[in-house]
Order: sequence, then C-alpha cells, then structure tokens
Amino acid sequence: MTLAALKSPPGLNDPQLSIIGQQRLEGELHVNGAKNSALVLMAASVLSRTPIRLGNMPDLTDIGTMAKILVSLGVGFHVEGSSAVLSGDGLTRHDPSYDLTRKLRASFFLIGPLLARHGVAKVPLPGGCRIGSRPVREHNKGLQAMGASLSIEGGVVSAKVSGNRGRLQGCAVHLDCPSVGATETLMMAATLAEGDTVIRNAAQEPEVVDLAGLLKAMGARIQGAGSATIRVSGVKELHGADYAVIPDRIEAGTFLIAAAATRSRLHVTPVEPSHLNAVLAKLEELGCSISPQGQGLTITTRGQLRGCELRTQPFPGFPTDLQAPFMALLATAQGDSLVRETIFENRLQHVAELQRMGAQIRTCGNVAVLEGVPMLSGAPVTGTDLRAAAAMVIAGLAADGVTSVTGLEHLDRGYTRLEERLQAVGARISRTGAVRPALLAA
Ligand code: UD1
Repeated sequence: MTLAALKSPPGLNDPQLSIIGQQRLEGELHVNGAKNSALVLMAASVLSRTPIRLGNMPDLTDIGTMAKILVSLGVGFHVEGSSAVLSGDGLTRHDPSYDLTRKLRASFFLIGPLLARHGVAKVPLPGGCRIGSRPVREHNKGLQAMGASLSIEGGVVSAKVSGNRGRLQGCAVHLDCPSVGATETLMMAATLAEGDTVIRNAAQEPEVVDLAGLLKAMGARIQGAGSATIRVSGVKELHGADYAVIPDRIEAGTFLIAAAATRSRLHVTPVEPSHLNAVLAKLEELGCSISPQGQGLTITTRGQLRGCELRTQPFPGFPTDLQAPFMALLATAQGDSLVRETIFENRLQHVAELQRMGAQIRTCGNVAVLEGVPMLSGAPVTGTDLRAAAAMVIAGLAADGVTSVTGLEHLDRGYTRLEERLQAVGARISRTGAVRPALLAA
C-alpha cells in the first residue's frame, strides 16, 4: 500500500447518502421514464437510417453509457430537453468495445439490431454481475435459428449472416425461459428479417410492449407483444419515429414501498397500474390502501402492517427488481414473512445489510424468512447492486437514527437525483461527495 493510500483509505471518501429516519413523507413524487425501456429503445436506433426521437428519457448513468456505446459505433446522439435524438445514419461500426459494454449488460442486446442492419456484429459477452451469472444463450440460439453463424472468441460473440443478401431469415423460436433481453434482441432482429418470425414463450414485460410500440412507429410489423407469442413480419427498411418512453414501474414501485415503510401518504405519478398489479396486491395484503387518482396512485399507510409471502416471477408476477426494496418494508411488518427469489441466483445480498440495521432474517438458498421487528436502527450500510441500494435507502427512511448508504454508483444507474426528490416530500436525506448522472455528458 502506498503512503497516499494510507492518507486516504479506500472507501473513506466514497459518496454517500445520510438519512435521518422516521420522518413521514407527504406530497407527490414524479416518476421518470423507464430505464429498462429507454436502454433498449436506444438500441433500436441502429435499425433506421433516419433519426428517432425518444421523449421522457430518464437522466441516468446507464443511459449515458448506452449513448457512449452508440456514439462509438457512429450513431448520432444529442439531447433536447428530456428527449434524446438518435440517428443511425452514420452507423459505421458493429463492434462495441468491452471497455464500454462491460459497464452495461443491456448493451449485449445490440447484437440483434446490428446483425439485422449490417449482417455482421461483434459484441462482447456481458459476463455475470452481482446478482447472478446472466447468461445470453437464448439470445444466441434465437439468432442462430434465424440463420446467423456465431462464434465466441476472446469473450466476444461474432455473428454473421451469410448468403441471402445478408438478411436474417424469419423462423419459429421457442425460448427455454421468457428472457426479457432475448425477447427484445430477437424482436429487433426480426423486424428486418426476410419472412415471419414467431417468438414463443416470450417475455411479457411492459418494456417489451414499449419496444414493440417504438418499432411499430418505425414501420415494423409486430403482433402479440405483451403475450407469450410474438409474431414479427420482416420489412426491408425501418424509418425514424417520435416516441415517448413509458413511466418506470420499478421506480414507481420503489416510491410506493418507501411510503409504506414510513407509514406515509404519498401520491406517485404517472403510473400505469396494470404494470404493477402484483406489487399493489402485496401492498394491500400488508394493509396499505391504494387508490387511483389522476395519472397516478395515492398510497395511504396507517398503523401496523402484516407480513406476507411472496415469490418473484416473470411479468405479470412480482418483479425481481422490487424484491430487495420490498424486503426492507417487510423487515418491520408484524409477524413472519417469506420471500422466495426465483429469477436470479444471487439476489439476497441486501439481507446481510438489513441485518446490520436490526432486521431478523434467516436465509436458506434463495429463500428468506423474516420475523418483523418494531423498528430498524440506523447504521452504515452498502447497496451492493442497484435495487439493493434502493432497499437501503428505504430501510434508512424507516429506521430510528442515522443511516449512511454507500454504493451510490449503483443507485445512480437507476434513480435520478433520488435524494433531492425524497427531500421534496419531507425526507431528511443528503448526499456527500458528488456522483452525477451523465446523459448530457455523453
Ligand atoms: C431484464 C432487466 C432486469 C430484470 C430482468 C428480469 C433490462 C435492461 N434488465 O434483464 O432489470 O431484473 O430482466 O426481470 O431490461 N436466462 C437464461 N438464459 C438466457 C437469458 C436469461 O437462463 O439466455 C435467465 C436468467 O439467468 C434469469 C432469467 O432468465 O434467471 C431472466 O433473465 P432476463 O429476463 O434475460 O433478464 P435481462 O433481460 O438480462
């Protein structure tokens, strides 16, 4: 270790949130555009020679990273207010660098549109991440079924369409599991393929429907998005479009859970309630009341909440992305709760951090059993991934005393200026050490 490192030990100056808990929240929280939609919609820009304009874009580090990747391939990118304009006209490359793609798993989904447009793509394998191994076998299998030859060398997937004027061939693909990314990759690839593609056991997530909405606005022919069978009839060319990203159901869910954890009344808007049915049902089971109001939902939480059982599932089941935030809420719900994570193999890392705040949790494999405690107590904790970081903020808002949360590089990937927005509804939360999202810096 060098002397400089001794003067400033690792971690000492990490940006952190300080939260004085036990404050009731009150007022309205605005929900931004959906990160997971926006990232894939950006990837779709590669399919057209004329610009697409995406409205309601969230200002997040992940969006900045995707913009950098696209720019490195020759895509034009600029920001106009809360819209991003992406122009695939200048696309010259088909080989994003590992340096950039390793920061963003969703960048692998570019393999579909790059292959469809260029007949060739070289995209680094995304590798695993903190929540699990994150395979892409279904994406690759589907592209091969559409006529691409694939090889993996040096951690990079090289895909090529030979013959047939470089066009992929429509075919029937049955996914072994309803992977969101594989469904989106194959749907984008199929838009410019020759003939019809049918994707069975497709993911039904709202972000898949949003992508289909943009692709249709660009001239694609797609039926069935949002169901388990999607049919895409290939066209020769797609064109530009003007399209708005849907509200982020995971951000909306995070806010509703924060309101419940602090026994508060909050209006969260805009929300599409059908995107959150499983979460709303669980909140009501706990004892919260939720009512639609205008474009959003008002949640009211009074008194003691009851524990419950939940398991994460593909949409329309309970989303894995809200499992950690919900566990922070269940930590103080009366009685026992049982949480079963079925999507990712390593997504209970927040348990140890919640335990540091006094939560009573036992785990066995991917199952957590919670015995509700009356109150959590503030402590220094770390968000080990994006949603775990959100869970720590919720736990801190509910806890007695001061909680400091590190791991903000994860939090900023998915929530824009979270502390400022929570301050506006009464939370006592502040940030030290600035890490700012980078949409404008792309
Ligand atoms: C997307 C979301 C992520 C969310 C996840 C599940 C984006 C950018 N990210 O990730 O926030 O947590 O959906 O809702 O949209 N699987 C395979 N083989 C494959 C692909 C996936 O076995 O080839 C498995 C995975 O291991 C996992 C499950 O399928 O168990 C779901 O993964 P998937 O839907 O692909 O997640 P992502 O699209 O990466």
